[in-house]
Amino acid sequence: MPAFRRVRGMRDFLPEEAQMMKYIEGKARKVARLYGYGEIITPVLESYELLAAKAGEEIRSRMYAFEDLGGRKVALRPEFTASVARLVATTLRNEPKPLRMFCVGNLYRYDEPQQGRFREFWQSNYELMGSSKPEADAEIMMLTNSLMKAVGLKNFVFKVGHVGVLRRILSQEKVQDKVQNRIMQLMDKKEYDTALELVEEAGVSEKCLVTIQKLVRIKGGKVFEVLQSMEKQVKGYERAVDALENLREILELVSETGEKIHMIVEAGFARGLEYYTGMVFEIYVPEMSISLCGGGRYDRLIEMFGGEPTPAVGVAHGLDRIMMAMQKQKTLLETEEGKTVIVIPIKEELKGEALKISRILRDADIAVEVEVMGRKVAKALEDADRRKMDYAVIVGERELKEGSVVIRNLERREQKTVKIESIIEAIKG
Ligand code: HAM
Repeated sequence: MPAFRRVRGMRDFLPEEAQMMKYIEGKARKVARLYGYGEIITPVLESYELLAAKAGEEIRSRMYAFEDLGGRKVALRPEFTASVARLVATTLRNEPKPLRMFCVGNLYRYDEPQQGRFREFWQSNYELMGSSKPEADAEIMMLTNSLMKAVGLKNFVFKVGHVGVLRRILSQEKVQDKVQNRIMQLMDKKEYDTALELVEEAGVSEKCLVTIQKLVRIKGGKVFEVLQSMEKQVKGYERAVDALENLREILELVSETGEKIHMIVEAGFARGLEYYTGMVFEIYVPEMSISLCGGGRYDRLIEMFGGEPTPAVGVAHGLDRIMMAMQKQKTLLETEEGKTVIVIPIKEELKGEALKISRILRDADIAVEVEVMGRKVAKALEDADRRKMDYAVIVGERELKEGSVVIRNLERREQKTVKIESIIEAIKG
């Protein structure tokens, strides 16, 4: 048989990285609890139609889609939002609102593998269903801020926009949704010139073209000034003005929390997914050019899936990218780990005693390994040293006769004989 290789774009996580992923996941779960989001688990495999409906061309064309043995067209989920919306349109249809739901897990997109772009990746995802109020949008931004802080990231920036501004101008100019989607896709990829060409081809007024040309250049960190410049441009497009007012309210609420959040508003900011109807945002750190998180408001998806009209807002945090950012920023993990211990029997016949001592220690919540390679004490100690373990418990016949073992502090290279009933205390200190 040939040596098997991993499938391109897939990764293995060895203990150190797996531990870091689980650490971030733990922080995400804690944030969910602090904000009242109940965890749900949805399937990795969903119907293709569901996932494709509003994913946007970019993601739709990169789905792992296939026919199952029963002839159903299915796909591996490229995101969580469609699954959660499906639940709210069906099983949870009659649940009182608001509904706050959290999920975490792996997702699949046939992206070109490169820095921070994988074909299998992880997200923590939060959806707040049932509220159209700006405080709901603010909550999603706040919890994202809480997670970034909880994992210890620094200098992260919120990039914020509102897809309603551009979309509503285009709608007022009678540009079809399909064309709007293409324009927004191009904007998302920062291909503004091509996007503007499409706007022109759609037969909009001269005023509209000039407005959008000017809008896409407006951005900056003084958010309320940026909003003012945007307002000047969109005069005459009433619904776009409302969109801006909505964005102002959200950002004011975020500011009122008293948390210093670094934000940049970009008028030409769009996101790849097609379902967004309102505020959208992403998170960046200076060390990386790709977003760590993305989210926004999508008020029509649930009704599109056959549910009651349900306004909604949510966010997904890319755990792989958060991990990369932490590595780049050399973030230290808070560890709750105690001491590590190896138990070494001096000879074969004492294996049972070694297992018994390991059990006593584990019952006291101490992490223990038992020497299972049958090595001599010196060799086993050398290996424990190499792996920077804290203590070795050496089980010898002579000491056992007196109900004792030898405990060696591997860092200090000191050892003493201790009664078995006192080993926990000797190690925990
Ligand atoms: P998204 O922007 O497609 O949004 O993905 C969110 C995050 O997932 C990205 O910011 C990134 O960190 C991570 N991500 C996406 N693709 C990859 C990849 N190929 N490799 C590594 N990480 C990746 C959504 O998925 C929406 N469902 C977010 C949302 C929830 N909107 C409302 N509710």
